[in-house]
Amino acid sequence: MTGRRRHFSIATIPGDGIGPEVLDAALPAIDSAAAGNGAEITWERLPFGADHYLATGETLPDEAIERLQTTVDAILVGALGDPRIPTHEHARDILLGLRVKLDLYVNFRPCRLLHPDLCPLKTASTSVDRLGQRGRAIDFTIFRENTEGMYLGRGRSSGEGTAAEERIAEEIHTAPKVDRIVRAAFEWARANGRRRITMCDKSNAVPAHQLWQRLFTEIGLEYPELEREHRYVDALAMELVRTPERFEIIVTNNLFGDIISDLGAELVGGLGLAPSANLHPGRTGLFEPVHGSAPSLAGKGIANPMAAVLTGALMLQNLGLSEGAHRLVLAVERAVAEGVTTPDIGGTSTTADVGRFLVQQIAGSP
Ligand code: NAD
Ligand code: IPM
Ligand code: MN
Repeated sequence: MTGRRRHFSIATIPGDGIGPEVLDAALPAIDSAAAGNGAEITWERLPFGADHYLATGETLPDEAIERLQTTVDAILVGALGDPRIPTHEHARDILLGLRVKLDLYVNFRPCRLLHPDLCPLKTASTSVDRLGQRGRAIDFTIFRENTEGMYLGRGRSSGEGTAAEERIAEEIHTAPKVDRIVRAAFEWARANGRRRITMCDKSNAVPAHQLWQRLFTEIGLEYPELEREHRYVDALAMELVRTPERFEIIVTNNLFGDIISDLGAELVGGLGLAPSANLHPGRTGLFEPVHGSAPSLAGKGIANPMAAVLTGALMLQNLGLSEGAHRLVLAVERAVAEGVTTPDIGGTSTTADVGRFLVQQIAGSP
């Protein structure tokens, strides 16, 4: 945290596809919300992404990582991924590289329904009871482990391109890393008045996941006020569709967290509305929408910038600017209520229209 500082230096990596478009629309809203909270942001735009990689062969140089770690207050990413690079090496180096090299072990992904119409669950009476009456009934946060699991790319392969090709991927779970993400989830639950925490694994089929069972139970004993429960990931996917409102916090491994977070996003309006933060308390955080570069939308001006704006809200919150964060969320809620939205959630506005509306809302709010 940055204490009483009122000036922030933030690096952006707009990246590929819709990444630059959504950041272009989101930055003025974030700026305006920060200004309303008495803070000024200096943005530094970094070129890393597909074009830069294709032109120079460089993904993300070590000096950039070093500098990001030491000289900026936060990093805001648009999206990475480009069909011209089907191996995804630049995106992996930049995104997964930063998560692991900066040791940002908490991938914090809130799924909160901002307006009942955004929820795709359509059993009419049920959805009115569950979502209409209570309005914000869906409100859970995924704590996704962000530095190991299936994502380290370890393993081996042989016979590539032959009928005997074999590829082995290693899934890594180590006690210190499982411990810290589980603890982060419990701590956040306690600090934010949550009552229930769900751990998700597949320990019935993958014995390595028993480590999660042991640590979740042991650490949970230190938080007796919290109700602890376990779900296998398949059953959790089912229950998230059936009764999403009963979940408060879900803590899980890297891969399951990735999958569950797109499901969670869809329950509250889709990827166009889903924010995330990659955190290690006390260090520079990396903030990014959950969505990718959506190549089929790129350049058309119709990508939803709300995920990037809500990601900006997580960033301001993390920088100690809660009032600014709150204004961003209120402005998005207003845009949804008034139908100033992109086609993914039923509107006819452009990315830039939505951005402008949000700035007007924030500038006009007391
Ligand atoms: P995607 O998130 O880009 O798109 C999935 C679907 O959601 C598409 O139908 C897309 O049009 C829609 N969508 C996503 N964001 C939207 C927005 N802001 N507004 C409206 N609709 C939106 O996922 P994908 O198609 O699986 O992946 C495309 C590329 O992005 C791949 O290269 C992938 O590796 C990469 N990716 C990057 C990130 C990241 O940078 N954090 C995350 C996910 C995927
Ligand atoms: C995400 C993305 C990334 C992930 C991809 C682009 C490697 O899907 O941030 O959710 O799997 O973590
Ligand atoms: Mn994902």
